[in-house]
Amino acid sequence: MPKRTIILGATGSIGSGAVDVVRSHPADFDVVAVSALRSKDRCEEIAAELGARAYVGEGAALRAVEENDADVCLVATVGVSGLRPTLAAIEKGMDVALATKEVLVMAGGLVMGRARAKGVRILPVDSEHSAVFQCLQGARGGSVAKLTLTASGGPFLDGPADLSSVTVEQALRHPRWAMGPKVSVDSATMMNKVFEVVEARWLFDVPVDAVEVVVHPESVVHSLVTFADGSTLAQLCPPDMRVPIQYALSWPDRLPAERASLDLAALGALTFRRPDPDRFPCLRFVREACVADGCAPAVLAAADEWAVDAFLKGRIRYTDMAKAVEDALANAPRIELTSPEAVYEANDWTWKHLSR
Ligand SMILES: NC(=O)c1ccc[n+]([C@@H]2O[C@H](COP(=O)([O-])OP(=O)(O)OC[C@H]3O[C@@H](n4cnc5c(N)ncnc54)[C@H](OP(=O)(O)O)[C@@H]3O)[C@@H](O)[C@H]2O)c1
Repeated sequence: MPKRTIILGATGSIGSGAVDVVRSHPADFDVVAVSALRSKDRCEEIAAELGARAYVGEGAALRAVEENDADVCLVATVGVSGLRPTLAAIEKGMDVALATKEVLVMAGGLVMGRARAKGVRILPVDSEHSAVFQCLQGARGGSVAKLTLTASGGPFLDGPADLSSVTVEQALRHPRWAMGPKVSVDSATMMNKVFEVVEARWLFDVPVDAVEVVVHPESVVHSLVTFADGSTLAQLCPPDMRVPIQYALSWPDRLPAERASLDLAALGALTFRRPDPDRFPCLRFVREACVADGCAPAVLAAADEWAVDAFLKGRIRYTDMAKAVEDALANAPRIELTSPEAVYEANDWTWKHLSR
């Protein structure tokens, strides 16, 4: 039986990758609904091609989940917009293939708790978490000593240390991955890695101290797991998001794909180095993002969403983004993230605080 599938954010970078995957495997997937925010024509084209219903506009992703039944729901919208549809999909008993990393940053405890209660899976789409997930297939609980998430280092890994006059165009020019604007800027600042450490903590139930970040500019090793016996497993493939998207949608099966495979001899060398905390000041936010209580994780993600939006619109400088996040965290009210409403309250407070 083909897997009934919903694709939220179908017109974006991840969504387009997912459309490619299902197009190549028509017998394996039955796409029942696709969503977009503004790209109405493109969304309707995709829906017509796949025989699915199109949902466009504010609230469309949530409606797509509420009005359809599916085995798996790919959540690939941007930022906090992914939270309501993710929770709705879980409540309806769908597995969630999760690309929108802010969902677990803002509400990891809530989402994983509801998923456990409903007996559904949160399947990682991020390449790093997919790599860890792949390395963990067949592993027994308690056998993991360390997760190592790799980072490409983005466009500002080397070059001038003063980034105050970086333009939007420069920040969006990622050397390895073609991605949507929000995640491209997060990759440049490495806020992306902060989010990924938090995601890893929730997805794989490991203490945050057991998750390390290492810079790997070639983006071929997508992450590694070190086990208690000292063995380390890694997942490697050329940088192509369709690989982890397909694995999340097809899991536990591996479907064939006509894609370039690795040519290690042609690559010659793979390099690794520690991230530079002066060049990537956002990395210091890992601590705040992982506090056990309080609303810091939700404020962090919301402040970053505000800051990236302001930078992309030319309202603040590149280096002001980390300062905005710091400001919001320093002034955050005390809200316990025990319900989705509390997460939205923290989100709204942050946008109001930074827009004042
Ligand atoms: N791109 C990657 O390689 C990559 C890798 C790892 C993780 N991710 C994560 O995956 C998510 C999607 O990234 P992306 O690069 O695919 O983004 P993108 O190219 O900007 O696409 C976003 C998609 O979501 C829709 N959307 C945007 N804002 C929305 C909102 N407020 N409500 C509902 N739908 C909305 C967009 O519709 P319109 O086209 O109508 O605007 C589009 O279909 C992000 O959270 C990102 O961090 C991405």
